[in-house]
Amino acid sequence: DYRLQPAVTSNTVDGPVVAVILDGIGIGRGDASDGITVSYTPVIDALLAEPLMTTLKAHGAAVGLPTDDDMGNSEVGHNALGAGRIFAQGAKLVGRAIESGDIFRSAAWRQIEERCSSGGTLHLIGLVSDGNVHSHINHLYALLEHCRQTGIGRIRIHGLLDGRDVGQKSALDYFVPLEQRCTELQQAGCDCRIASGGGRMVTTMDRYEADWRIVERGWQAHVLGEARPFPSAVEAIETYYREDPSQTDQYLDSFVVTGDSGPIGTIQDGDAVVCFNFRGDRAIELSRAFEEPDFSEFDRQRVPDVFYAGMMEYDGDAKIPSHFLVEPPVIHGTLGEYLCGSGVTSLALSETQKFGHVTYFWNGNKSGYIDRDLERYVEIESDRLAFDLRPWMKAAEITEQAIDAVASGRYRFIRLNYPNGDMVGHTGVEAAVRIAVETVDLCLGRLLAAVEKAGGIALITADHGNADCMWTEKDGVRSPMVSHTRNPVPLVIKDYGGTKRFAMSNLEQQGLANVAATLCLLLGFEPPPDYEPPLIVQVS
Ligand code: 3PG
Ligand code: CO
Repeated sequence: DYRLQPAVTSNTVDGPVVAVILDGIGIGRGDASDGITVSYTPVIDALLAEPLMTTLKAHGAAVGLPTDDDMGNSEVGHNALGAGRIFAQGAKLVGRAIESGDIFRSAAWRQIEERCSSGGTLHLIGLVSDGNVHSHINHLYALLEHCRQTGIGRIRIHGLLDGRDVGQKSALDYFVPLEQRCTELQQAGCDCRIASGGGRMVTTMDRYEADWRIVERGWQAHVLGEARPFPSAVEAIETYYREDPSQTDQYLDSFVVTGDSGPIGTIQDGDAVVCFNFRGDRAIELSRAFEEPDFSEFDRQRVPDVFYAGMMEYDGDAKIPSHFLVEPPVIHGTLGEYLCGSGVTSLALSETQKFGHVTYFWNGNKSGYIDRDLERYVEIESDRLAFDLRPWMKAAEITEQAIDAVASGRYRFIRLNYPNGDMVGHTGVEAAVRIAVETVDLCLGRLLAAVEKAGGIALITADHGNADCMWTEKDGVRSPMVSHTRNPVPLVIKDYGGTKRFAMSNLEQQGLANVAATLCLLLGFEPPPDYEPPLIVQVS
């Protein structure tokens, strides 16, 4: 029952309004570390000189993260873009629930305690770093501390290596202290060990069903105890580093910790399992493998009867998983709901790696359609390899679909995401980042020509930075920077339907959450009153 009112001076747009998200393309320092500056980008350069141009905050409090030290990410970025308001996000909500103790009063935690008091082992699976994008190691420590206090007797940690939201070879910074913490717990009478793990891009954390083999590898390591054996997680990491110094954490092979009688932490009937990642995209598939009775994405070989809980609910439509420790942000009245309520036809488009970003994240972490009659979601299948090896990704295919959609006249609103700046930015390979950025620039030029021909309006922005900083320098030594940045992102409106209909409103605080109201105005509607204000005013 969401309905928008026509804008007071309603202007008529002939063509569609097209929102283009240049994933991971922020505004950097403009020096040699800035992957946009060092690339040939005539289209982006011209856009940055447009009159309807500004910059937006895309990190920290502006997108519902705990502090302004937190870099942005695609989940919080697309949530803010699609919801038009700022919601406290997973990182913040879990932190609060731990502080207040609510997390341990949850129904799910009670069931975990019940399992453990009748002899079950508690398994904690998740990303071990302080990236604060999918998880935070302090949340893991808080769970361990509570287990120590309440006398949970046996814990096995299945730790995934990050190297994507943090330094690319920083795993030991997290695993050494974590093993130390395990030793302390053992001294306090709790049998706590790291039992298995692996690099996040090859173990467990697939998203949008890009490659189920990744989850299968995780299942084999965590549940079945099948992977290369090592006496400890730290020894596994050190050995992999030694064997191939060029390999980075996110791609390190899976491993299993073994003792005299084999793997020390396979998952068995009667155990409890917690996935301590709070972000959903890369936690859904593992949750499905644990929960779905007729699961068929890979052969699980053995399916233990466990109590499974997520740190949060990962999919609010599909209700995945059934049990979780912390309530997710409740996001109602998204732009998608308002547009459907107002009869606006729309298309959402990207390739697999970012498909859920323009649908599921955009719609407030709900995976389904809002109105099948009005909406179409198009996914182009992503390549399955490290993206520095194919930095153009599917940008040409996305562009061609978008051009067709613009020309077809079937959609009043189109949103699409070019993943290249982000996905290649995460590899830290400079030459590949340049190809990625130049690919996006070329494709954007083709798309804008189509929008112009149709007399539409393009809104170009990004969800967070990444390619805008490729390395940092300390004492004259450069190290690749693979994570997102805290840089602002561009916001440009290119109105091909008429001249001088809008002017920038130049708000004091401008972030991604102001985009939804802006899109309402461009589409000829008054924004909902509770949305963050639009970035433009109507001139005539
Ligand atoms: C990932 O999941 O790939 C990274 O942790 C974050 O990247 P994204 O927020 O751009 O998807
Ligand atoms: Co990213």
